[in-house]
Order: sequence, then C-alpha cells, then structure tokens
Amino acid sequence: MKRIQIINGPNLNLLGKREPTVYGDQSFDAYFLKLKTAFPDVTMDYFQSNTEGVIIDKLQETGFTYDGIILNGGAYTHTSIAIADAIRAITTPVIEVHISNVFQREEYRHHSFLSEVCKGCIVGFGLDSYRLAVEAIIRL
Ligand code: DQA
Repeated sequence: MKRIQIINGPNLNLLGKREPTVYGDQSFDAYFLKLKTAFPDVTMDYFQSNTEGVIIDKLQETGFTYDGIILNGGAYTHTSIAIADAIRAITTPVIEVHISNVFQREEYRHHSFLSEVCKGCIVGFGLDSYRLAVEAIIRL
C-alpha cells in the first residue's frame, strides 16, 4: 500500500473562507475526506502549518519513509530556500501543487524555489490538483 503525506503551508488552514473566488469554498478537511474515499488503497496523512521550520520538520520526518509527499508551500513557495534545501535533503519524491494557476496571477508568484527540486508540479486545477498529484505518485 502506498503511503502519501500531504503538507499544506501558510494560510491553507483557511481554505473555504479565504478568497473563495481564488481558492474555492470547500475546507481542506472536507476535501481530504473525499480524497481518502477515492483512494481506498492509499494511506494518506494530512498536515498543515503556518510556520516554515515546522514544515521543514515534517518534510524531514516523513521524507525517508513515505512513497510520496504532496506539498503546497503557499507563499513560502516563492520565498523559501530553506524548504527547497529540505526537499533536496530527503529521498521521498515531492510533488509541488497549487490550487490556483500562479502563472495567471501576480508576477511574484511566477517564481518557485521549490519547483527545481520537486519531482513535478501540478498547478491551477483547484483542489483537484491534489487528486492529480496522488495519481502521479501512484504511478511513480
Ligand atoms: C497557492 C499559491 C500561492 O501563491 C499562495 O501564496 C498560496 C496558495 C495555491 O495553492 O494556489 O497561499 O500555493
């Protein structure tokens, strides 16, 4: 059975309430229940933090044993060399996901420090980005 860790970064605990025109009106907890039901043969764990170091701790904790990590770094995507270094340091493949299409948004969202160290990136499919990432990890 594949084991996948989902890590959401800052402000993603507010999904459902936060800018619903950009991020939708569904909480991640509600979506996560559906995602787990859709993949009964996959073990999935979900973690969220607003703190950079705590995200790094979780990457280090899960990054040698899980089959895949799905990471939405939120705004740290565009700023964090430290998270990129953590991804470089671990052996589990990391898939970068974004709910919105960051390339259709402000220019400062066009650069990701994480993309070059991730296995691949899924961007702009709403919460369905996470399902697509699960599909990708299953096929790795
Ligand atoms: C995001 C895009 C980021 O630019 C933003 O800071 C987020 C969410 C997304 O999922 O679309 O917090 O990662």
